[in-house]
Amino acid sequence: MRNVELKAIDPDPERTLAAALALEGVRDAGLLVQRDTYFAGTREGRRLKLREEEGHEAVLIPYARPDDPAVRVSDYALVGVPDPGALCDALGEALGVRVVVDKRRRLLEWKAVRIHLDEVEGLGRFVELEAVAPPDSDLSVERERVTRLRDALGIGDDALREGSYSDALLAREPEPELVAMARAAAANAYAPYSGLAVGAAVRTADGRRYAGANVENAAYPQSQCAEASALGAMVAGGGGPVAEVVVAADAAGLVTPCGGCRQRLREFTPADAPIHLVGAGRVPRSTSLAELLPLAFGPAALA
Ligand code: THU
Repeated sequence: MRNVELKAIDPDPERTLAAALALEGVRDAGLLVQRDTYFAGTREGRRLKLREEEGHEAVLIPYARPDDPAVRVSDYALVGVPDPGALCDALGEALGVRVVVDKRRRLLEWKAVRIHLDEVEGLGRFVELEAVAPPDSDLSVERERVTRLRDALGIGDDALREGSYSDALLAREPEPELVAMARAAAANAYAPYSGLAVGAAVRTADGRRYAGANVENAAYPQSQCAEASALGAMVAGGGGPVAEVVVAADAAGLVTPCGGCRQRLREFTPADAPIHLVGAGRVPRSTSLAELLPLAFGPAALA
């Protein structure tokens, strides 16, 4: 079987759902609750996942997918699995588990195109289009339908994403160098009034890293957060976009970016880029602007 596919982040899931439901002849297949377990030990370029879905038989899906961002063609097979628990244990034992992806998917179908409105645990909201191709298709009809749907749902170039949910989840470990930079900045913070030392570090999509600390002032409102300092350094060093953020606070509890800094980050950072919050000895909490600043106002609103 072959698909023409597209994946994008979804900054406004309610609007996307309304636009999809308004499509002529669309079928609403309702909500699917899915768990995909990805196994290690596969050949280069090949993937293997077990899909378990509430109310359906589980399937084992071996597949290959070239990661071309615009519209991808996918090769796969579906193998029914009557005892998914036992198979998962057996394959996990033999090959190892790479990652588990849990998601809630609203499925709609329009002219043999599957529309997935996904909420992925730990990643945020996405829309996927999958045009299922008959064996003799030259894929032109499928590509045309995906393009039409893209327009109808308002999916811009900036929102397109390569790669699988599993890869995105695996990439969410904070980069040790970025954590070290944020911690070093926090150690130099000027915070005599609050006593809360904060450091932030950003990595740009092309691999540059910048750090900043909070800088307080005897005239309290003139104080500046660590994120603002780091973004200022980044702009001075050549600018964004930002691919990863670390905020390190010298505190036992969770310190999250203030509302103003969420908006500052929004200017340069895609909604799904990881933002890692690290503290003194605490396990980092990874989040993103999709979670911290939903329905955000951003540069696109002025375009
Ligand atoms: N602060 C930051 O620098 N970043 C944050 O994410 C939260 C708060 C600073 C501002 C101020 O200097 C101190 O923490 C107490 O609010």
